[in-house]
Amino acid sequence: MGRALEFVRLSKDKKNQPQGDLVQIDMTVNGRAYSADVEDRTLLVHYLRDHLGLTGTNVGCDTSSCGACTVHIDGQSVKSCTVLAAQVRGANITTIEGMASNGELHPVQEAFHQCHGLQCGYCTPGMVMAASSLLSENPSPSEAEVREGLEGNLCRCTGYQNIVKSVLSAAGGQS
Ligand code: FES
Ligand code: FES
Repeated sequence: MGRALEFVRLSKDKKNQPQGDLVQIDMTVNGRAYSADVEDRTLLVHYLRDHLGLTGTNVGCDTSSCGACTVHIDGQSVKSCTVLAAQVRGANITTIEGMASNGELHPVQEAFHQCHGLQCGYCTPGMVMAASSLLSENPSPSEAEVREGLEGNLCRCTGYQNIVKSVLSAAGGQS
């Protein structure tokens, strides 16, 4: 019994220990500089959520297919579950928490609000990040281009109609 208990305790202790090498990372997130030692296997999404507490970036799958974890890395829309934190040392990251400024929603956030481009909201941060990136590259997309641009982001509530409407509204493509 004593040995069994010790094994459990050791197992738990081992579980709480880092499993990989530690690497130092520096990056700017939402305009603020961060520096930390993290395991080399730490995904960017886990660094953002677990180390920085930026839980607006969601995890919706383990297959890199849902887009709920989308952030901007140096202005480009990227699924943060596909990138190691150590790979983006020195980068400028924007998460959904960094989109509003001076108390004002980002125009894409405002459009989602106005057009009711969400249901449960789980996919919404990733949708907003992907949509704002899309509009930076193509400020006046057609409906087809919006649908194509967001094809890497899944909405399990299937509220695509209002999501597309929101993006077109943000682009000034429709009233
Ligand atoms: Fe990153 Fe699903 S959690 S694509
Ligand atoms: Fe629920 Fe998209 S609003 S997953």
